[in-house]
Amino acid sequence: MTHYTTVRPPEAAPDWTIPQDWERYSADEHAMWDHLFERQTRLLPGRVAPAFLEGLDILRLSKPGIPDFAELNARLMDATGWQVVAVPGLVPDAVFFDHLANRRFVAGRFIRTPEQIDYLEEPDIFHDVFGHVPLLANPVFADYMEAYGRGGQRAGELGAIERLARLYWYTVEFGLLRGADGLQIYGAGIVSSFSESIFALDDPSPNRIAFDLRRVMRTLYRIDDFQQTYFVIDSFEDLLRQTVENDFAPLYRALQGANDIGAADVLDSDRVDHRGTQDYAHAKALSAGKHNA
Ligand code: PHE
Ligand code: CO
Repeated sequence: MTHYTTVRPPEAAPDWTIPQDWERYSADEHAMWDHLFERQTRLLPGRVAPAFLEGLDILRLSKPGIPDFAELNARLMDATGWQVVAVPGLVPDAVFFDHLANRRFVAGRFIRTPEQIDYLEEPDIFHDVFGHVPLLANPVFADYMEAYGRGGQRAGELGAIERLARLYWYTVEFGLLRGADGLQIYGAGIVSSFSESIFALDDPSPNRIAFDLRRVMRTLYRIDDFQQTYFVIDSFEDLLRQTVENDFAPLYRALQGANDIGAADVLDSDRVDHRGTQDYAHAKALSAGKHNA
């Protein structure tokens, strides 16, 4: 998260939205969507939360290629009352939270180029729409996202945006779910990434630890590479209950001055599904060191 930019581009409305201009996408851009969509839908069955696959049909529209938000929104509105709106890039936190609190999900309009196929600095339309929209069609997750938006407005007043951003990061973006036959992915940052969809479940490197709200709020995260720790929820219902029924104001206060937990740290109090070797992260750090030497 951290959707800050300083100035609103002149073409954007006061709420920072811009028209999608679906007619302006090129054939190559539509082909990129179709390629990514095909690759992920082949990979995900058996790895992803069933609710994600159930929501995926919402993206199978009457025309192939990048979804036309007009058609997508008609379906999403019917399913859960959510809408997708296009924005020029990262938006200020307050704008982001206001959209969520009103069941509008902000999405980038551009799609990655072939050079960026597996590494992106800013979320594109494939991440934002393929990654996020299927679960917005799920009634429980849809409620969680709206509640999060209202929670964000509150966190802004309480000076606790970073604590809440960590919750978003480790659930909405990089969350795992405990399924009957093992762990499943559901976070948008994982499900929209071919390599992280494999890494998050199969690689021995990262920790996989049971979700704990306070613990997550204290945990640093990586924005430049695969996560070093993933947190596992028991169900969307449980996540919604824990976050909605809990008043975060006393929690933020209690955590004031608490030290941060490193992205790879494991605590004695953690319920650990898998203690990561961190081999991947260590190898990366070593090779980065060599480049700098
Ligand atoms: N219960 C939170 C609060 O008191 C709001 C919230 C709900 C935050 C759901 C995140 C997700 O601020
Ligand atoms: Co995202």
